[in-house]
Amino acid sequence: MAPAEDAARLRITVLGTGYLGTAHAACLAAMGFTVLGVDIDPVRVAALTRGELPFYEPGLQLLLQAGLASGRLSFGTSYADAAAFGDVHFVCVGTPQREASYAADLSQVDGCIDALGPLLDRPCLVIGKSTVPVGTAEILAGRLARMSPAGTACELAWNPEFLREGHAVRDTMRPDRIVAGVRSARAEAVLREVYADPIAAGAPFLVTDLATAELVKVAANAFLATKISFINAMAEVCEAAHADVTMLSEALGHDPRIGRAAMRPGLGFGGGCLPKDIRAFMARAEDLGVEPALSFLREVDDINMRRRARMVDLARELAGGSFDGRTVGVLGVSFKPDSDDIRDSPALDVAATIHALGASVTVYDPAAVRHARRAHPELKYAGSAVEAVTGADVTLLLTEWREFRDADPEELGKAVARRNIVDGRNALDASRWRAASWHYRALGVGPGTPGEGSPSGGAGVGGGLGAQGLALGAGGGRELILEPGHPVAQVLVGGGEDADRQQPGVPGPADRDGRDRDPGGHLDDRQQ
Ligand SMILES: NC(=O)c1ccc[n+]([C@@H]2O[C@H](COP(=O)([O-])OP(=O)(O)OC[C@H]3O[C@@H](n4cnc5c(N)ncnc54)[C@H](O)[C@@H]3O)[C@@H](O)[C@H]2O)c1
Repeated sequence: MAPAEDAARLRITVLGTGYLGTAHAACLAAMGFTVLGVDIDPVRVAALTRGELPFYEPGLQLLLQAGLASGRLSFGTSYADAAAFGDVHFVCVGTPQREASYAADLSQVDGCIDALGPLLDRPCLVIGKSTVPVGTAEILAGRLARMSPAGTACELAWNPEFLREGHAVRDTMRPDRIVAGVRSARAEAVLREVYADPIAAGAPFLVTDLATAELVKVAANAFLATKISFINAMAEVCEAAHADVTMLSEALGHDPRIGRAAMRPGLGFGGGCLPKDIRAFMARAEDLGVEPALSFLREVDDINMRRRARMVDLARELAGGSFDGRTVGVLGVSFKPDSDDIRDSPALDVAATIHALGASVTVYDPAAVRHARRAHPELKYAGSAVEAVTGADVTLLLTEWREFRDADPEELGKAVARRNIVDGRNALDASRWRAASWHYRALGVGPGTPGEGSPSGGAGVGGGLGAQGLALGAGGGRELILEPGHPVAQVLVGGGEDADRQQPGVPGPADRDGRDRDPGGHLDDRQQ
């Protein structure tokens, strides 16, 4: 871009350079903006300035280095510099759960606004991206206008973030929607300018009031958590009824009204967002006097936590009824694959619990060992999967990194003391592991279930309107072919009672960038 064009573009600050802020800053620089990232942690700022990502996120380090090299991306600790530099300030600081309550701890957001506000002496837009309880933005908007020398010329907007760790770059560059909570046409215009690139690429741009924008984020997380806990509740039922939850999930997922995303049964959700967001949402509903509206989220949370207890029970069963003197090898401790985030990680929780119950636990994770070691120094850490399971009486797959999904059961089998594995994510091909003489168990699949634990392999149920007509797959080669003009085909394609169902083979909004597809049959506990 020519220097004159550069100068005409909005100058952006990103306040808080954690998982969200760093991705946001680097992606905005890649879109051509000049960006200053500000954080109160000087060690983090120094690392980012050297081009070192302080956490693991595929593709982000390269983008960070490219931004620094272009001169469009820099980092600092000074709010005075931020106020002088920015036309637009994105608030990306953390909003963790409070110590002794379900509510969100807003001290980082408050600290950010209190530090920035008094320094804002010219018109600008402050845009909240952190996930906050509904009503927060309204309060902050008033405070900002009162404390900033520029007064109401310093406006507040809310623009919640939906990126998923492990996919942060793609989700930021090509978001599936942009929600702009604004109070003026000017604020909307600024947000449109910031997101001109993804908007041009087709991202829906939804303009709302501040409260609705805040709610979109927490409602989305509440829905995702509910979906994950729904299939995990079905896993509990399947175990009791000797049914197979993996096949149940696959069969349910073919209904487009239900879908396959977030329908993988397993150890449940964790991380720095979903658990604390649903709890903060419940706390906020109580404040608003609508507690019963969200009381189901308590059950969602309970189902999620029960999965961890069930995982420990299954591991103990395979260990012979007690962990005393047993050796357990753990594969994966990050809360999800392709991330080193261990915040509220179900995997790390299970590993630490089993250690506390008397086992010697050795952990391997492709990215999260450094963080895990700091949080749980009592566990042993290995440099590879084979090392982690060496001498193990029981092996646990707790985070479904590709490396573990592709692991060779024969190779790991040579290292262990006993070929016992619990697949906490229903991610392995059970038949392959059994063929290598492993005793394979999985959550939601009873020991005596036919086809137990197979993540795939059931009869497919398919259909689609091809050139010859509508093929209704009946399995076993008994396909019913209907001509396109056939009245039954017209009803199936054109609507009728089930008009809200997306037609098989017809890309719907979720298919726009392939997000809702799972070509590898790997259903994702996809989160924020
Ligand atoms: N991590 C995600 O995938 C994700 C996705 C969507 C939304 N969110 C939301 O985004 C927010 C940030 O999440 P995160 O995961 O990046 O958190 P994080 O803890 O990784 O990062 C927060 C950063 O803010 C810094 N900070 C704290 N107070 C500050 C201040 N006053 N000024 C400047 N910097 C300050 C911290 O030092 C830290 O680097 C949260 O509200 C979260 O719910 C996160």
